[in-house]
This record gives sequence, C-alpha cells and structure tokens, in this order.
Amino acid sequence: MIAIHKSDIGFYPRWVKYCEESKIPFKIVDCHKTDIVQQLEGCKVLLWHHWQVNYKDLLKAKRVLFALEHAGMKVFPNFKSSWHFDDKIAQKYLLEALGLPLVRSYHFVDKMEALDWVNNTEFPKVFKLKGGAGSANVKLVRDKQNAIRLINQAFSKGFSGYDSFEALKERFGKFKQGKESFLGVLKSVYRVFNPPYYAKMMGRIKYEIYFQDFIPNNDSDIRVIVVGNKAFAIKRMVRSNDFRASGSGNILYDIKLFNESLIKSSFEYSKSLGAQAVAFDYVFQDGKAQIVEISYGFAIQGYDQCEGYWDENLNFFPGSFDSTKWIIDDIINELKIGK
Ligand SMILES: Nc1ncnc2c1ncn2[C@@H]1O[C@H](COP(=O)(O)OP(=O)(O)O)[C@@H](O)[C@H]1O
Ligand SMILES: [Mg+2]
Repeated sequence: MIAIHKSDIGFYPRWVKYCEESKIPFKIVDCHKTDIVQQLEGCKVLLWHHWQVNYKDLLKAKRVLFALEHAGMKVFPNFKSSWHFDDKIAQKYLLEALGLPLVRSYHFVDKMEALDWVNNTEFPKVFKLKGGAGSANVKLVRDKQNAIRLINQAFSKGFSGYDSFEALKERFGKFKQGKESFLGVLKSVYRVFNPPYYAKMMGRIKYEIYFQDFIPNNDSDIRVIVVGNKAFAIKRMVRSNDFRASGSGNILYDIKLFNESLIKSSFEYSKSLGAQAVAFDYVFQDGKAQIVEISYGFAIQGYDQCEGYWDENLNFFPGSFDSTKWIIDDIINELKIGK
C-alpha cells in the first residue's frame, strides 16, 4: 500500500489518478497531523510533494520523511534527493564535494571574511538567499559598494525570505504583459503589509551570505529534469532587461534546443547525487554548462508541453508523458527487487 500526502497542488492529484487508473492500492494521509506514523500502518511507501512556500511542509516534511526512511520505509523524496532542497548553500557544498560543475560560489558566515573577499574579487556577482524559487531571491550585484551593503545587511537585520516589493514588481511586470490578473497585483499589495506565513515562520535570514560568479550573456537557462532513468528538458527565456530566467513564464520546448551531451551529463550527475528526481538549472559559459541550482521538486504543469523524453541510452521518445507516474513506477520496482 502506498500512502500519499494530500495537498491541492503539485504531484498529488496526478499520483492519486495514476493509482486509481492502474489499481495500485493507495491511501491518502495527512502528514501535517501528529499521528502521521499511525496513519501509515500497513503502508510500505510514502509520497509527499512538499513545497518551500507552505509553512507546514517546511516545518514537517524533512523531519517526517527522513524519520520514516531511517526506520526502513520507502519515501519520496528520500534523503539523498531532498536534504538540500531549497537550500542553495547546502547544494554548493554537495556539488563541490561530488565534483559536479556548479557555478563558482561563495558562502560566508564571517563578516570580515566576506568583506575581505569583496576587496579581492571582481564584479558583477550574483547574490542569492539560500531559499526561494522563480528567481525571487536572486539579485545582480553590480559593484563592490552594492556587495558591501548586502553584507552589512546580512550581518545586521538580515533578509526576509519573501521580498514583498520584488514580488509586487514581478506581478506588476507580468500584469503588463497580460500574464497576471489585476487581483494578483492586489494580492501582492496586500502581501506588502502581511507577508505569507512561511516567511514569518522562517524569520530573518541572517549571519550568512551567498554569492555566485555572474555568468554573462545568457538569454535563457536550461532545465533538465532526471527522474530515475528518464529525462526531459525545457528552455526558459530571461525577463526583459534582466538576467533571470526561472519564473519568467517564457518557456520553449522545441527538442532541437537541447544538446544530447547535456542530457547525458545530467544522467551522470543524477547518478552521482543518488537522486530519485532532480532538476538541474544550467547557464552556459563558453559553451560549457554550469549548474546554478538543483531541486527535487518542480511545477509539473510547466512540463506538460515537452515534446518527449530521453532514456539513459539517449533514445528519444516523442509524445506526451507524465513524469509523476515514473516516480511511482520506480518506487514499486525498488520494492519488487527488494532494493
Ligand atoms: N550565477 C549565475 N549567473 C548568471 N545567471 C544566473 C546565475 N544564477 C542564476 N542565474 C539566473 O537566475 C535565475 C534564477 O536563479 P536560480 O538560482 O535558479 O534561483 P531560483 O531558485 O529562484 O530558480 C536562473 O534561472 C538563471 O537564469
Ligand atoms: Mg532555478
């Protein structure tokens, strides 16, 4: 029996539909409740598509999933796939340790070390908070003064995980392009006075700071997602007058945009990470792909228009597919072979 954590969004509705269609025994559970372990009686698997913007998920997902995995249960996402989820700083150390091509990154927990670095490095750089999605917490740092200001802030009042003015600017930009409703803009105005729960729960992000080298001249990024032994990809164009692609909503799917060698390396990186599912965000320098971040989860609707997927031997299978089914298939297979 497979347990699936109920939520309105993400992989959940598709997982339920797949189990129903394929007559896979399943049970819907609520991992936010204190009796989650008891709810799981008789289940061998727990699936939970958790998000960084749900404060209950933030409080419980890693604790519950890793506790159950520790005790021998099959879970998605498992430890290796997700201990670094929504933590770009954890990813820096992991990718460095595995020798994967992360954009050169810098993390300081000491103000003097950070200021020293500023005096001996070149600009622009990219500043990122450890968490966030859709480019929300990613900024260009044009010069030394700008970097010093950020360092001073990091080592005093810190940053909110939700930048309400940026969020408002982003929504307004999308509204002007006809990609956002007026109600959406109003919601963002409301959020200026009343930040979302998750941001309040997280408190201020401080006493550390994270930068990456700025990789110039990218009009897009490429995201390759590997789920088990299958992969698919999208290309996201940057916002106008901006270097940031993720969350722009301008996605290209044409298969000719994706280099097979990038798909091949992504399979290798995924193996090396030991991930059940992993999205790699790549930018390019002199034709060489560099990773800016990784994530076990993704907004599934953005991939429905993919033209097909590759297997590990780089055979391409054209046509529509649903990668959330692969997650279930992979885990059932593991159970069968007793892995
Ligand atoms: N070091 C970098 N150099 C150039 N562009 C970058 C760099 N890091 C990120 N970007 C751009 O900014 C976007 C958002 O960065 P990313 O780290 O993926 O954050 P998010 O979690 O918000 O998606 C990326 O999609 C990419 O277009
Ligand atoms: Mg990204």
